[in-house]
Amino acid sequence: MHNEKDRIYIFDTTLRDGEQSPGASMNTEEKIIIAKQLENLGVDIIEAGFPIASEGDFHAVKRIAREIKKCQVAALARANKTDIDRAWQAIKLAAQPRIHTFISSSDIHLKYQLHKTRSQVLKEAVAAVKQAHAYTENVEFSAMDATRTEKRFLVDMVSAVIDVGAKTVNIPDTVGYAIPEEYGNLIAYLFSHVKNMGSTIISVHCHNDLGLAVANSLAAVKNGARQVECTINGIGERAGNTAMEEIVMALDTRKALFGLHTKIKTEQIIKSSRLLTQVTGIPVQPNKAIVGANAFAHESGIHQDGLIKEKSTYEIMTPQSVGISDTHIVLGKHSGRNAISQHYKKMGYILTEDQLNKIAAKVKDLADKKKDIYDEDLEAILYEEVYRGKDKYTLVYLNVVSGNVAIPTATMEMQVDKEIVRDAGFGNGPVDATFAAIRNITKTNYSLLKYAVNAITGGSDAMGEVNVQLKYDGYSVIGRGAHPDVIVASAKAYINALNRLEFLKENTKKVKVE
Ligand code: KIV
Ligand code: ZN
Repeated sequence: MHNEKDRIYIFDTTLRDGEQSPGASMNTEEKIIIAKQLENLGVDIIEAGFPIASEGDFHAVKRIAREIKKCQVAALARANKTDIDRAWQAIKLAAQPRIHTFISSSDIHLKYQLHKTRSQVLKEAVAAVKQAHAYTENVEFSAMDATRTEKRFLVDMVSAVIDVGAKTVNIPDTVGYAIPEEYGNLIAYLFSHVKNMGSTIISVHCHNDLGLAVANSLAAVKNGARQVECTINGIGERAGNTAMEEIVMALDTRKALFGLHTKIKTEQIIKSSRLLTQVTGIPVQPNKAIVGANAFAHESGIHQDGLIKEKSTYEIMTPQSVGISDTHIVLGKHSGRNAISQHYKKMGYILTEDQLNKIAAKVKDLADKKKDIYDEDLEAILYEEVYRGKDKYTLVYLNVVSGNVAIPTATMEMQVDKEIVRDAGFGNGPVDATFAAIRNITKTNYSLLKYAVNAITGGSDAMGEVNVQLKYDGYSVIGRGAHPDVIVASAKAYINALNRLEFLKENTKKVKVE
């Protein structure tokens, strides 16, 4: 039987800190898709955004607050009246709203960034928590840059905000500076020095600048922290945040050591990871723990021999426990609508008739080109056909001529808003010519920061997945496209990046290129 004091609350900040990764910005529809998956995954709190940052953020948080029922929905606010009012306006209709307010506590931040004294920020922290508490009892306070804050002042600040109603107090390692033992000791120090701790939940929020975010979070929970802030695939500011899948599986796999549990449905982990990759276009490195393509692949003969004899020789957790299914090949040329719909259901997607109509046609098209269809192919089709929101630009027609004698030429037709526009482009190769055609049609000329092609599954008939990163005037976006023809996938990725730029421009939120 689990004891509530041994429960670790999972606070997911993929939609807030995660969205601060260069190129990770999402539109409202995409945020809703991710929020719903976080609900299926069983996170306790979804940090939906920073409502004061832009109109787009405000509306996205408001919609998530309305649509999510099973998780708490948090909105971030600096410790000032305008931010807190705005945060509350965005989440007040949530089933379980939370205001998360923060101010820096380290002398470095106070001296060089805020130009305030300790007593000033202490006063502002208290006033902010009081104000938030007048709206809801569910208030979280973060002492930004806590790990570089003088310990006694941190104790004063934590005690003061608890006094005025903070139920959760977060001790962020904002710059990823801490080392596990030191961070664990800091949490222990707070428990022994904050006299009014009572039932306050101490939360941890670690950045991965030294690759220690998960290790630091584990050290903190060993010393009494009971909320971990994390993101899917560890995305986030700079080197990212604590990876949700890693902290959850570490606690699960080593439960005899930690004696702690979360409410995460671990079989939803892979689906959540892939969905985020589909939505943001940010790929997961193959050797990434838990969700990387090689995380459960045993190459060495000695390991394979051991596994055949007894799985536990080399396997500390099963692929099934994180949602990787046994059989990978799922559908082929002769699969009917029912088989398609049933297979999506097994993957955790219930399709409406309308969605099934769109998808079945695409699955059949793909089956004509490719012998076996895999879960990853189906997810790519689902995202392209169903999830992608209304776009300014869509690809209608593409014809490319290339080879060792022809000048690579792309002829193309696109829909731009409601109008069909046709043009051509030349280039060094077929991709270059295609991008030139797109630039001519859209009358844009953004810098191409990155172009990467991957095969979604193995084999020369595999779907090609292309990521394109564009930069324009301080905006940076990643577009993604998938198709069995890599030139078409490239065109789709470029167009997707253009659509994302349009969305960002409209929502006046700048993602600065570092
Ligand atoms: O890293 C940080 O300190 C933050 C706070 C806003 C919690 O993201
Ligand atoms: Zn952070």
